[in-house]
Amino acid sequence: MSIQRQKVVPFAEGNVLEIGIGSGLNLPYYSKDKVKHLTAIEPSLETWNRNIINTNDLPFDFEFAQAFAENIPTEPNSFDTVILTYTLCTIQDTFKSLEEIRRVLKPTGKLIFCEHGKAPDEAILKWQNRINPFWKMVGGGCNLNKDIPKLIEGNGFQFKKIDSMYIPGWKPASFNYWGAAEIR
Ligand SMILES: C[S@@+](CC[C@H](N)C(=O)[O-])C[C@H]1O[C@@H](n2cnc3c(N)ncnc32)[C@H](O)[C@@H]1O
Repeated sequence: MSIQRQKVVPFAEGNVLEIGIGSGLNLPYYSKDKVKHLTAIEPSLETWNRNIINTNDLPFDFEFAQAFAENIPTEPNSFDTVILTYTLCTIQDTFKSLEEIRRVLKPTGKLIFCEHGKAPDEAILKWQNRINPFWKMVGGGCNLNKDIPKLIEGNGFQFKKIDSMYIPGWKPASFNYWGAAEIR
C-alpha cells in the first residue's frame, strides 16, 4: 500500500485536508515544497493515537480535529486539496461526505483519492458481495464492494485522472482506484 500512497499523496498542494487520517500513514509522503498547511480529521482518537510521527517535526503547519467526513468542521472554500486514502470504503454516508468535501474545497481545488473497491471481474465481485456483510462486521465498517468511480462521479465530481488495478494481495480486497477529481 505504501507504493499506492506514493502515487497520490505527493500531489497534494497548498492548504490540504486529509479525511480519516487513521494512524497517519500518509504523513511521510507529503511534499514539503507543495504543502502549506495540513488539516487532518479522524473520528477515532484511538487510531490517531497510534501515529508514530511527531507532528511537531512536520515541515508544514499541521492541525488535527476529531471529526467525521459527514460534518467537516471548517468554513466553505477552505482547501486546495482534499485527500482520501482507503477511507471511502468505511465512510457510512458517502453522499453527505462528498457533499461536505465539495463545500470545503475551493472551486479550483482537487480531490485526490486512492481506494479499494468493486472488482471488474464477475467472479471476484461475487465473492466481494458474498463476504461483505461479515467483512464489514469484523473490519470496522469497511466495505469490499463500493463502486468508487460511480460514487465520486455521481456526487458532483469529474475525474482529471483515474487509474485502477489489482495490487498484490487477496483479490477481493485489492482492487484499487486512484487519481484526482475536480468539482463538476
Ligand atoms: C482503513 S482506515 C484508513 C486510514 C488512512 N486513511 C490510511 O490511508 O491509512 C479507514 C479510516 O477511516 C476512518 N473513518 C471511518 N468513518 C469515517 C468518517 N465517517 N469520516 C472520516 N473518517 C472515517 C476510520 O476511523 C479509519 O481511520
